[in-house]
Amino acid sequence: MKLVDNKATLSFSNGSPSVDLPVYGGNIGPDVIDIRKLYAQTGMFTYDPGFLSTASCQSAITYIDGDKGELLYRGYPIEQLATHCDYLDTCFLLLNGELPNEQERTDFHKLVTNHTMVNEQMQFFLRGFRRDAHPMAVLTGLVGALSAFYHDSTDINNPEHRRIAAIRLIAKMPTLVAMSYKYGIGQPYMYPQNNLSYAGNFLRMMFGTPCEEYQVNPVLERALDRIFILHADHEQNASTSTVRLCGSSGTNPFAAIAAGVACLWGPAHGGANEACLNMLEDIQRNGGIAKVGEFMNQVKDKNSGVKLMGFGHRVYKNYDPRAKLMQETCNEVLQELGLENDPLFKLAKELEKIALEDEYFVSRKLYPNVDFYSGIVQRAIGIPVNLFTGIFALARTVGWIAQLNEMIGDPEYKIGRPRQLFTGSPRRDVPAAKK
Ligand code: ACO
Repeated sequence: MKLVDNKATLSFSNGSPSVDLPVYGGNIGPDVIDIRKLYAQTGMFTYDPGFLSTASCQSAITYIDGDKGELLYRGYPIEQLATHCDYLDTCFLLLNGELPNEQERTDFHKLVTNHTMVNEQMQFFLRGFRRDAHPMAVLTGLVGALSAFYHDSTDINNPEHRRIAAIRLIAKMPTLVAMSYKYGIGQPYMYPQNNLSYAGNFLRMMFGTPCEEYQVNPVLERALDRIFILHADHEQNASTSTVRLCGSSGTNPFAAIAAGVACLWGPAHGGANEACLNMLEDIQRNGGIAKVGEFMNQVKDKNSGVKLMGFGHRVYKNYDPRAKLMQETCNEVLQELGLENDPLFKLAKELEKIALEDEYFVSRKLYPNVDFYSGIVQRAIGIPVNLFTGIFALARTVGWIAQLNEMIGDPEYKIGRPRQLFTGSPRRDVPAAKK
């Protein structure tokens, strides 16, 4: 962050003296006005619920240009990473800032692979949940519980602890997600098999059984790996900010990531792919393509409370670049599985076509986001709808941990403590009768 040759001046109409505020620039993207001394200088706070105009930190990990529809991890465009790298290369990049060379790649793959198993005791912990519990409820518990199993990597101020916790989290998330699925359907857990790829191993833990050999389908393996890459990080979104805020108190990395999992669950964030697929299934049940027009009228009616799930984004005011890649993967997977005529896919295409031409969506710059197609791909692979957000959490874990570690290493980091505009009652006394 560097001072730019520009200064902001805040003036007041009530005659209070105006205040000069420094302006800093990053490498790309908007400059920021430094308001850290504003309260000391004026006795006033800024008001920005939802952080519409507030940069909460400086970061060198992920850059989004929402108007252009551009996403870069450490400077590399998501399209190139999704085409030329695998998920573990992407993890290495997010954590270390550079793509791995051949030796680093081999070592990193081996390191992650060596940590895929979870403490056997985890199984007994899992047994305490109802079998029909939502997998995100289970995952929030399991991830939080990791801190109880791995005491030797819970000191957030120790770089070696942070490094081990990062590897453990990336390695164990697929095992935990698959375990929560197997538990729900009453099948035995499948131990990880370390000669498989990260995505291939996950497919086997999900869909294999001890009764027969599981053959990994390379098209589905590649599709899943791409889902992981596309969801690996997305700068300061709600769950990442939650992880940073939680970690800013000095709590252990497992607890901070568990907070991210909990935040991701919401339908306006990671829960959107589940909500999107539920929406498509609802429309299909109520008449399918013939009823799309009626549904769109509801979406446009402010009083209906109905939203077109998988559309719109706080940052992208253009086509989400991940949605384009996901659409490509969606075509490949449906073709591989002979599902080209899948009614939900057709329905999704129809909704997209109408929305991209409709004045309501065009004027509000509402475009499909990654969730619009990722649900269809996951459903085709055989992943149950209520596990979609769990897959997202698995993939995003690396982003959360990279952002958390970046924050701890930043000399300017402080415990996060927003202020408020108080609108409640001023001081008053309890009535005499209650005393
Ligand atoms: N369907 C219909 N109208 C929408 C939609 C939608 N999906 N999204 C936004 N709008 C409308 C809003 O009603 C608002 O209209 P108005 O100006 O007439 O009041 C306008 O577009 C601006 O929307 P905001 O809600 O102000 O945009 P915001 O940036 O706060 O919200 C959000 C972004 C939460 C993602 C929103 O677009 C949404 O709810 N989309 C559906 C859920 C979804 O797909 N979420 C996934 C996000 S991506 C991710 O987490 C991976």
